[in-house]
Amino acid sequence: MPPTRPNLQTDDTRVGRTARTGPVRCSLPGPVAVGYGRHVSERAASSRKTHARELFAGLPAAYDRAGAALSFGQDPRWRRAMVTALEAPDGARVLDVAAGTGLVTAALRARYDCEVVALDQSPQMLARATARFAGDPRVRTVLGEAERLPFDDGEFDALTFTYLLRYVDDVPATLRELFRVVRPGGRVASLEFGVPTAPVWRAGWWAVTRTVLPVGGRLISSDWGEVGRFLGPNIEEFARTWPPERLGPAWVDAGMARVVVRPMSFGAGVVMSGARSAGH
Ligand SMILES: C[S@@+](CC[C@H](N)C(=O)[O-])C[C@H]1O[C@@H](n2cnc3c(N)ncnc32)[C@H](O)[C@@H]1O
Repeated sequence: MPPTRPNLQTDDTRVGRTARTGPVRCSLPGPVAVGYGRHVSERAASSRKTHARELFAGLPAAYDRAGAALSFGQDPRWRRAMVTALEAPDGARVLDVAAGTGLVTAALRARYDCEVVALDQSPQMLARATARFAGDPRVRTVLGEAERLPFDDGEFDALTFTYLLRYVDDVPATLRELFRVVRPGGRVASLEFGVPTAPVWRAGWWAVTRTVLPVGGRLISSDWGEVGRFLGPNIEEFARTWPPERLGPAWVDAGMARVVVRPMSFGAGVVMSGARSAGH
């Protein structure tokens, strides 16, 4: 199939532009006081955001091993593919958004000659990353939100974000904010969960997310049990609203060029990468 949109390609399929249906928005339960790095503000947190904060508060202790086990070892492989797709230049200053316990940050430090700022909104997840990199002067951890990055325009040579977009209310606005802090020509790579499109793999994916994940999660802890129940339906909702055919053009609209979409494990993971266009 020929490309229907400039600057956008996938490894397996070329994707075109589809109609916008708009991001899913959630009700606002009321204002909360939050203080993140240089940004301290009083504002309303959506139920989606509140849920993300609560969800990750109980996960750091088992996160690194549980994530790999519940994905049958696929998740570390996808993360490595994303880090490779970043193609960060030597000496790069990289921002790792939704860094969690620091698995992507660690892969970046192992793969590239770079310094990394690891940012996450969960104090509990980030505490693990801070401990992990205590002896590494080229890593700094920052408590903050993807929607309001405490950085200047074009401050970074490269940026990664992982499993983030299912937790934000406004995907296009968050993409614009992420790309804002990358210099023109700078590289961006991301990893999100997806849903396989081929019927046989889709059926297998459905069976695993509705049986293995909830049961396996419960065996680890009650917090992981909730994650196991939540993930399948949540990934499906995101994949319905933001399939790669729509997310790719959203990257281009938000200021990226040479966007590549790479489905992993028959589409259960999606690695995207691109370069910040000079015109933005
Ligand atoms: C599944 S974890 C991924 C962690 C890590 N990147 C990895 O690959 O293992 C998702 C992370 O996104 C963070 N997160 C969710 N929404 C966020 C937001 N709006 N801003 C910053 N971090 C966010 C969560 O706190 C959590 O640590």
